[in-house]
Amino acid sequence: MHENFQIKNLEEYFKIYRKSVEYPNAFWEEIAEKNFVWREKWKTIMSGDFESTNIKWFEGAKLNITENCIDRHLDKQGDKTAIIFEPNNPDEKTEHISYNNLSKRVNKFANILKQKGIKKGDRVCIYLPMIPELAISVLACARIGAIHSVVFAGFSSQALSTRINDSKCKLIITSDGSYRGRKTINLKEIVDEALNDCSCIEKVLVVNRINAKINMESGRDEWVEPLLNKASDICEPEIMEAEDPLFILYTSGSTGKPKGMVHSTAGYMVYTAYTFKNIFQYNENDIYWCTADIGWITGHSYIVYGPLANGATTVMFEGVPNYPDYGRFWEIIEKNKITQFYTAPTAIRALAKENLKFVEKHDLSSLKVLGSVGEPINEEAWNWYNENIGKKNSPIVDTWWQTETGGIMISPIPYVTPTIPTFATLPLPGIQPAIMNSNQEELQGNQVEGSLCIKYPWPGIARTIWGDHNRYKQTYFSTFKDMYFTGDGAKRNEVGYYRLTGRVDDVIIVSGHNLGTAPIEDAINEHPNVAESAIVGFPHKIKGNALYGYITLKNTTNNEDLLRNEINQIITEQIGPIAKLDKIQFTIGLPKTRSGKIMRRILRKIASNEISDLGDVSTLLNPEIVDEIIKRRI
Ligand code: WTA
Repeated sequence: MHENFQIKNLEEYFKIYRKSVEYPNAFWEEIAEKNFVWREKWKTIMSGDFESTNIKWFEGAKLNITENCIDRHLDKQGDKTAIIFEPNNPDEKTEHISYNNLSKRVNKFANILKQKGIKKGDRVCIYLPMIPELAISVLACARIGAIHSVVFAGFSSQALSTRINDSKCKLIITSDGSYRGRKTINLKEIVDEALNDCSCIEKVLVVNRINAKINMESGRDEWVEPLLNKASDICEPEIMEAEDPLFILYTSGSTGKPKGMVHSTAGYMVYTAYTFKNIFQYNENDIYWCTADIGWITGHSYIVYGPLANGATTVMFEGVPNYPDYGRFWEIIEKNKITQFYTAPTAIRALAKENLKFVEKHDLSSLKVLGSVGEPINEEAWNWYNENIGKKNSPIVDTWWQTETGGIMISPIPYVTPTIPTFATLPLPGIQPAIMNSNQEELQGNQVEGSLCIKYPWPGIARTIWGDHNRYKQTYFSTFKDMYFTGDGAKRNEVGYYRLTGRVDDVIIVSGHNLGTAPIEDAINEHPNVAESAIVGFPHKIKGNALYGYITLKNTTNNEDLLRNEINQIITEQIGPIAKLDKIQFTIGLPKTRSGKIMRRILRKIASNEISDLGDVSTLLNPEIVDEIIKRRI
């Protein structure tokens, strides 16, 4: 992204912002025109609207995103490091992958995929730890026009098979195992179990990471290394239409199965590249590190596509923040002279409670920008981050966005927007937020609070839910007319800054992970002794929110702890350990409305210990149950 597109001061921001609202299409056209390589130009900049939900950007254009993320950098900066790989074990060597080397490895991998019969439009599942092959296989799919569906390698076999089946992936890329701190995890075993339920998978490509002896099913499974050794390092890019899907990424909904959000090629590229350049104020020799996993949208947009489209150096870290000790992040910053550091509030809170000596041992003076993403950052964590990591010298960008938005939507621009803790501050150019009340009215002016919507399409918006456009319409465009509904609540303060106030639906953000209550309840209800369950969130010092389950049983038990373990075991198997409940209260009933709906509002308050303020419970079908639950709360 050209320097001219980097906003340098507040006055310029307001000027550009106004222009982007008045002439949104012209605004994005100039960015697209001047910053990317196109095989063919678009015929229309934008078409469609939130009413018809058929949004298209840059229709008629042809491109390949890997030409933009790799090939075009080779001439001038082929030897520059594209990816720095920091292994789990600090004694293992850091790997510097140059753009030249990345190009060769992506092309080789792309050729293997082709050999295995993968063609444009086919879905490829990627279930890998944070090793270079993860970024490489993502880009290899994009090279040949295959649609990647990365599944976070912490998900269970059942969660994996649901995702594979939903988008009918033909091939899966995995590894024998992964390292996480002191643990090793046998990923291939999880894949084998998942594949018992997936008839669509024809081939399994296995990367060797931990030298494990694993089951290899002949005819189906193959090690990647020998194939790579033989493959050519030249693979012509598949020329894609602007609106061809680039990837599917699953995110939890408040009900039902996970939603496979589909992102397009051109719009997503333009949006992630532009936002990366501005929000991290990335300059040529900076070393940027985002600690997310590529299994989440943050990793897709701000480890892989956004940074590489800018010719940046991006770090991939395989490990965890507390291995070998709580100083690991700070050690990596010092060692690589990281300039921009992007992480999640849950990590900040976990590290802030450890001894400061873990921080003080390291020279963090290379840092220029600190980022936060995934959930609201509370004031205490913000201050700790600012004082101890940024030494009050690095602005914090509290970036609000979603899997569905493709890229950052509301965030300070560092050195441009004055920051206030807990405020994501101002929308990026091209983004038009609205705060709505429950009567479908947009609340004008400042000092208002309501549901956060977006009024005008932006290039990065997900175009559909894989296989279920109707659900896409229902979820995002039916609550408010002609608006994209985010599912988040927000406030606008006296100077027009936005503060996110949390989900207004049944999604709970635990340690930055979106968890829908319904799938967890479905899992719990499979226990033979569970009659009914309701999950709510409650504030947690490290995780932001944790899960509290109210469960009614078919038969009473004299071993509640055993039952609690069994229930968490089912959740771990069906979803993954991230969805385990912190507290489980067995109860003889759940508060219900006269129409039989569980009153989660009351349960939420009880779990959060706000019992003095339960509101009117007399209209409930069974008001007496409320006292009973309060008496026995955990
Ligand atoms: C929440 C992650 C407050 C929000 C990029 C959103 C935030 C959901 C912030 C999306 C923030 C994300 N402040 N809340 N800075 N960033 N959220 O899809 O509730 O994993 O709707 O995307 O995380 O989570 P997702």
